[in-house]
Amino acid sequence: MKALVLSGGAGTRLRPITHTSAKQLVPVANKPVLFYGLEAIAEAGITEVGIIVGDTADEIREAVGDGSEFGIKVTYIPQEAPLGLAHAVLIARGFLADDDFVMYLGDNFIVGGITGLVDGFRAERPAAQILLTHVPNPTSFGVAELDAEGRVRSLEEKPERPQSDLALVGVYLFSPAIHEAVRSIKPSWRGELEITHAIQWLIDQQRDVHSTTISGYWKDTGNVVDMLEVNRSVLETIEPRIEGTVDEFSEIIGRVQIDAGAEVRGSRIVGPAIIGPRTVVADSYIGPFTSVSENCRIEDSEIEYSIVLRDSSITGVRRVEASLIGRSVEVTPAPRNPAAHRLVLGDHSKVQISS
Ligand code: G1P
Repeated sequence: MKALVLSGGAGTRLRPITHTSAKQLVPVANKPVLFYGLEAIAEAGITEVGIIVGDTADEIREAVGDGSEFGIKVTYIPQEAPLGLAHAVLIARGFLADDDFVMYLGDNFIVGGITGLVDGFRAERPAAQILLTHVPNPTSFGVAELDAEGRVRSLEEKPERPQSDLALVGVYLFSPAIHEAVRSIKPSWRGELEITHAIQWLIDQQRDVHSTTISGYWKDTGNVVDMLEVNRSVLETIEPRIEGTVDEFSEIIGRVQIDAGAEVRGSRIVGPAIIGPRTVVADSYIGPFTSVSENCRIEDSEIEYSIVLRDSSITGVRRVEASLIGRSVEVTPAPRNPAAHRLVLGDHSKVQISS
């Protein structure tokens, strides 16, 4: 069994963060989303992994390397344009050969891994196995309709009038039967070869398509709310560990991880929270569900329920809440007089000001 991981795509729903970074590398509890997927694949005993890359290929290659850190062997497969998930299967034919494989979308986050699913698929070997989950916004997904016995009756990609609230999760298990399917379909209205259509083709050919409904699923939907929520749920599971330095005037409460080279002075940190390597927290309060990445400075400030990416600083600001702060960002107070907001915001930024 092999794995095909999709890490192309533009990430328009997570702008402005994805103007400068691949969406699969957005961190959750200070670790890129993609890494959780690769770890789940390795844990399921799969070692041969093809990664489909697009415009952000260099960044993905730099982050993942040859895969040895994950205990896998990575083959990079360039896709010249985001022509669809089924197109990715088409161009990976040489790598996949005639093996079964799991296709994993690099921007999807699944709580609890895929080992059970992979084992189940190996035992039953249907033509395809899909994962479904109940979502509040099915029009943003592929949607499945099941019959009374729970068999997949039909699938539709981003339907205007969804037949159910069961969305296709971005993890699929396939036998080599999928190759004929991806060759048989035509591009959709959005110009992509949809994997949803390829699976529908298998259903139309009376092939076995199994489904499993899961909970504990996350995918970016354009608002920061989802990211903060998945960050929260992962932080709840971290082991408290202090490798950096904490001075005697600081207080660390609950599940807190302070990485090597980080420095906490005169501050109060209430977990769950994670402070990345070489980050300095001075005279500040860090509240629950906060991830601060490496090489940041939080000084004379308060922050809670937020994600701060690397090389950023927050100085003299209270209080930052429910925020996603990108890389190399500076947040400081405005001068008192005149009382005005001074903003330098990149394209597609979103700012909420309390005044
Ligand atoms: C793709 C699939 C869709 C699926 C989703 C899960 O959507 O086309 O069926 O529900 O991934 O992440 P896309 O990311 O291309 O919008």
